Amino acid sequence: MSSHEAEFTKQGSDVSEARTVALGIMDNVTTLEDHTLVAHRLSELRSLESDQNRFGSLVSTITSALAHEAFRNLPSKPVLIDTPVLAGAPGTAVLDEIVVVPILRAGLGMAPAIQEALPSTRLACVGLKRNEATLQPDLYFDGLPGDLTGVTVVICDPMLATGGSLGYVAAMVQERGASKVVALCILASQEGLARFVSAHPNVKVVVAAVDPELNNHGYIVPGLGDAGDRLFGLPVR
Ligand code: PRP
Ligand code: URA
Repeated sequence: MSSHEAEFTKQGSDVSEARTVALGIMDNVTTLEDHTLVAHRLSELRSLESDQNRFGSLVSTITSALAHEAFRNLPSKPVLIDTPVLAGAPGTAVLDEIVVVPILRAGLGMAPAIQEALPSTRLACVGLKRNEATLQPDLYFDGLPGDLTGVTVVICDPMLATGGSLGYVAAMVQERGASKVVALCILASQEGLARFVSAHPNVKVVVAAVDPELNNHGYIVPGLGDAGDRLFGLPVR
C-alpha cells in the first residue's frame, strides 16, 4: 500500500470511528452502509458520470432498498392464498396504510419506489426550498392532509444536510397527529443527522450512508451535489 493510500485508509477509519460513536447513540437510525450493492449504487449516484436518467434510476433502486429495510416489521395478518399447486396456502398481508410524503422537489424521485414497495399507500407532499443564505427551509406548498391522527407517515428526501428541512416536515406531520413517522434519506451529514435525531427522537430514520461533513454552503461532502438539480436535469453547479 502506498503512503497516500495508507493515509487515506487511516483518515477513513478515523471518520468511520467517529461515525460509529455518533450513530451508537442514535437508536432510531439505520444505515445501509454494510450493504455492498447499495454502496455500489451510491457510488454511481455520487459520480459526475451519472446523467439525469441514470441518476433517477439509481435513486429509485436505492429507495427501494431503504423502504424494504424500514418496513421489514410492518404489522401484518395471516391470509390464505391459492397458488398454482395448492389452494388455501398460508400467506401474509400487511395491515397499515401508509401516507408517503416526498419533500419537493428532490423527494419526488423517491416516492414511486416507496409506493411500489408498500402494498397500500396514499400520497401527499410538502414543498420546501432551503434559503441559500440562511440555510433555513421556506415552506411554499402545504399538501398534507389536515388530520393525520393515528396514521403512519413516511417522509422521503434524498438529502439530510443541516436537517432543517426534514425537521420542519417531521414537526408538521406530528402536529397533525401522525402516530408513527419514518424518514427515508439517501445521504445524511453526520452533524445534521445528530441534530435531527436529538430534536425528533421518535422518528425512525433509514439512510443509505452518512457523510462526514457539510461545506460552507451547507452541502454534504463528499455528497452528490444538488439532488434536485440532478434529478431534474439542470446543469451541475
Ligand atoms: C434540498 C434537499 C433537502 C434539503 C436538505 O432541497 O432535497 O430538502 O435541501 O437540506 P437541509 O437538511 O439543510 O434542510 P432544496 O431546498 O435545495 O430544494 P429542492 O429539492 O427543490 O432542490
Ligand atoms: N441539498 C442538496 O441537494 N445537496 C446537499 O448536499 C445539501 C442540500
